[in-house]
Amino acid sequence: MSVEALLQKLADGEFHSGRALGEALAISRTAVWKQLQKLEQMGLPLESVKGRGYRLAGGLDLLSRGDVEAALSARARERLHTLDIRGVVDSTNAVVADADAGYVCAAEQQTAGRGRRGRQWVSPYGQNLYCSLLWEFEGGAAALEGLSLAVGVAVARVIRQAGAAGVQVKWPNDVLCDGRKMAGILLEMQGDAAGRCQVVVGIGLNVAMRSAGGIDQPWVDLTSVVDEIPSRSRLLAYLLNELVVVLEDFTVGGFAGFRREWQQLDAFRGREVAVRLGDDVVLGTSAGVDAGGGLIVETVEGRRVFNGGEVSLRAV
Ligand code: BTN
Repeated sequence: MSVEALLQKLADGEFHSGRALGEALAISRTAVWKQLQKLEQMGLPLESVKGRGYRLAGGLDLLSRGDVEAALSARARERLHTLDIRGVVDSTNAVVADADAGYVCAAEQQTAGRGRRGRQWVSPYGQNLYCSLLWEFEGGAAALEGLSLAVGVAVARVIRQAGAAGVQVKWPNDVLCDGRKMAGILLEMQGDAAGRCQVVVGIGLNVAMRSAGGIDQPWVDLTSVVDEIPSRSRLLAYLLNELVVVLEDFTVGGFAGFRREWQQLDAFRGREVAVRLGDDVVLGTSAGVDAGGGLIVETVEGRRVFNGGEVSLRAV
């Protein structure tokens, strides 16, 4: 029996006795106890009260395929042929990389969630959204200029739609709320760099983070800034609905159609910044993005434009 069957039972936030859990899952009480130990290792707040049993205080809002499908737009249903909802995966980006265009994977937990620049994306069970989809483009890498920024716009729209104010983007594709990171985007390209290529669009959105160990930058989740948030299933549907709109618009018109909106959301515009490129640090004033999504920085030596890759940006 996997720990997930137990989590399905405890997701209601009510007390369950060891015996009732054992009976429901057709396992011994010792086996129940062993599985319960795992929940603690997963960072879930398991309570144990003598005479009443065990509960996950506050319950868990688990993903439900039916609820996601019910909130999908007609356009998303048409363009996304598979909604693969998993429990625990290494990385949803890795799952989708072997699939075909229009395939979506969302998971409750990632054991090897990938972040930008080789970092790990902390992905505890049932608390946030981890989702990837595969999209196909003609025209090779050149046609993808600014794509990650456009995806950032899609995510920012969804966070606003969920009720959050103070949503901003940080070049190239972090989405911030009140200055702290709420979502990250990782695009991975495969196929023909000069022709038809597939892009894995991976998004991690902090929804209700209970166990945040290992995050090395200021972060925030949706529950901390919005009183009543939509269920994670609804949020996932809103995200997919918006992504389909943005990816289709991008396919037709590239980044140009998103530039204005991106710049309105830009957290760093007009601020003094340090851009790190390997061992080099360039200081200057952040001045928005060019038509291809490159970051414009006014330095004492003149204007410089930075494009993706291993560049990192911070305010000084
Ligand atoms: C970043 O470093 O800001 C990018 C984080 C991207 C995380 C998401 S979670 C879903 C998808 N699967 C992964 O392994 N990474 C992306």
